[in-house]
Amino acid sequence: MTRTKKFKLSFLVAAAAALALPSAMAQAPKKLKVGLMLPATGTFAVLGTAVENGFKLYVAEQGGKLGGREIEYVKVDDESDPSKAVDNVNKLIKRDNVDVLIGSVHSGVAMAMAKSAKDSGTLLIVPNAGADAVTGPMCAVNIFRSSFSNWQPGYAMGQAMAAKGHKTAVTITWKYAAGDEIARGFKEAFEKAGGKVTKELNLPFPNVEFQALLTEIAAAKPDAVFSFFAGGGAVKFVKDYAGAGLKKSIPLYGAGFLTDGTLEAQGADADGVLTTLHYADALNTPRDNSFRLAYAKAYKMQPDVYAVQGYDAAQMLGIGLTATKGDVSKKDEFAAALRKATIDSPRGAFTISKAHNPVQDIYLRQVSGKENKLVGVASKSLLDPGRGCRM
Ligand code: BEZ
Repeated sequence: MTRTKKFKLSFLVAAAAALALPSAMAQAPKKLKVGLMLPATGTFAVLGTAVENGFKLYVAEQGGKLGGREIEYVKVDDESDPSKAVDNVNKLIKRDNVDVLIGSVHSGVAMAMAKSAKDSGTLLIVPNAGADAVTGPMCAVNIFRSSFSNWQPGYAMGQAMAAKGHKTAVTITWKYAAGDEIARGFKEAFEKAGGKVTKELNLPFPNVEFQALLTEIAAAKPDAVFSFFAGGGAVKFVKDYAGAGLKKSIPLYGAGFLTDGTLEAQGADADGVLTTLHYADALNTPRDNSFRLAYAKAYKMQPDVYAVQGYDAAQMLGIGLTATKGDVSKKDEFAAALRKATIDSPRGAFTISKAHNPVQDIYLRQVSGKENKLVGVASKSLLDPGRGCRM
């Protein structure tokens, strides 16, 4: 080979390599930034940890990637404080440039997130907070929920308590969106079935000074009490209810958050309490058993409803990303994939409504020892009405 030919050949090899370089780089997609906005402090801190654990477990099971993209996490402790929610979510959207928002636990915080997600077009999956508005008037093509609407467990318990023959009930909740809406769902079904809510008691979130309200319940003598509390507040309420001697005379019911993830601390005071929720211990399905085993191995503790919701938020993200080949900007395709999906959840398979809320079975459960034992299905494939959603 002459020197000129050699030179030409090496020039061609170098040019081909240079041309191949950008396409090789294009084959390694950018990491997907997931913004976890959950409580790490306050009365809902353990709930936030369980959501995060569940989410990360599913991602780890997929080898750390969803839709072909490696996942990177950015975290903010929202303290379950709605007054800080706008600043917190803006940090994730504007400072950290996240591709996806996952959060939160508290309904007031989630409403602020939904507003920012709607305004900015950022993809949001709510892994707990039940605020009806998120899949109601605030619904949007880029907003989804892997958990429940507040209406759902309340409505199911209204039906269940009426079916038990109770004619009068007092409700007691924290005074914010979750408490108001869970109690409203309960009242709607209970009164439709012929019952009467005689008193609606509440106290500001996250207060736990229950004594004065327990005295009112004792004086009102309803057939039964329906309640909504969660996390640390639920532990104290169940203990105080038993401590006030009410457990023997007026049966206590609740949305399942009252006894989920709390039984270790509530001990015998929770025994026998009936609740409604979209998850129960010992469902004993192959899907739930394998999830529980994997969760226990990874975190050295049993999962609860919050862990399931986090796990399913990651599953939902995976379904959307697979359909869009990892491109979160393809919102219509992402939403279309989820609307026709059946999510293979540990709670049992569920689908997503037109307003993007789970259509799911709500179980009746009863506390026995350290478990929320399955009693039956209180409401089959319960569809939130999605009131006010125009989509
Ligand atoms: C809520 O604020 O939506 C909520 C918080 C804890 C448990 C269930 C619902």
